[in-house]
Amino acid sequence: MKEKVEEILSQVLDFQAESKEALENFRITYLSKKGIIPALFADFKTVAPELRKEMGMKLNELKNVVQDKVDEQLQKFESQGSSEAGFDMSMPANEMRGARHPLSIVRRDINEIFAHLGFTIVEGPEIEDDYHVFSALNFPIDHPARDMQDTFFINKEPNVNKMSDILLRTHTSSVQVRAMENSQPPIRVIAPGRVFRNEAISARAHCIFHQIEGLYIDENVSFADLKQTLYHFVQEFFGEGTKVRFRPSYFPFTETSAEMDISCNICGGKGCNICKHTGWVEILGCGMCDPNILLSSGIDPEKYSGFAFGMGVERIAMLKYGVTALYLL
Ligand code: DAH
Repeated sequence: MKEKVEEILSQVLDFQAESKEALENFRITYLSKKGIIPALFADFKTVAPELRKEMGMKLNELKNVVQDKVDEQLQKFESQGSSEAGFDMSMPANEMRGARHPLSIVRRDINEIFAHLGFTIVEGPEIEDDYHVFSALNFPIDHPARDMQDTFFINKEPNVNKMSDILLRTHTSSVQVRAMENSQPPIRVIAPGRVFRNEAISARAHCIFHQIEGLYIDENVSFADLKQTLYHFVQEFFGEGTKVRFRPSYFPFTETSAEMDISCNICGGKGCNICKHTGWVEILGCGMCDPNILLSSGIDPEKYSGFAFGMGVERIAMLKYGVTALYLL
């Protein structure tokens, strides 16, 4: 028995587990109830009394060596990260890249299309004054948009000229005004940004959303230029063959004003829930800049004309990706 124990001891001392499973097998082989070490302890009864002390010590040594091996190697596997968990904390994290938000992708793609047409990107403040959001754009003093129910006011003084009210911009059209104030034609800009409306949040609309505004002012700019520019944008963004149509509309700062629809890219114009079975979906408002707006921003309307447009980024992203609900409420 002594030789047997010594042979086992020498094997055990050399043992290196290659995996956690191999280590577990090793533990079962030696230490489990039916394993080799309990069997040796069971045989201990047969050892001659004069050898018992020595054999007892040997057996205990073997048991301790095996237990230490198991503990030590288990700790090694755990600190490396087990193969079952499938990761190794020391590896570079190149499989765990972030992704762009769909709204960022849409905004970038729209910006790029207009950049190829020579538009530059401009920005304006989110906290604006009444003048740039409403007055300079010809919104009458009692227009419903100027109501507390529609606009987030930061500072609204009763009985004081409304033009000094401070508010969160309700549209990016305010950046048109700033662009006209700050430069002379030719002006060819787009202004992407966040806008704010004091409205109930629903699955399809939030009180904070994104718009992209466009403004083009030069000599002899006509409605045909507006149509061709927006038609080009739609072909690039939604794909060739997408149809467009313009419907007469009204905005205080454009004359003529229109809304533009595209053939529904979800059903291809056949009719579906997204287009409410009409085959068309509205994507933007647009029009020829009202000469009074040019004049009040320091641009000579006798010499120059221009067009403007504004679109909602969320809406366009929903159409592009066939998303029916933006928010889970
Ligand atoms: N600002 C308008 C809105 O938020 C959209 C718009 C319409 C922008 C016509 C324009 C435009 O530049 O010409 O509903």
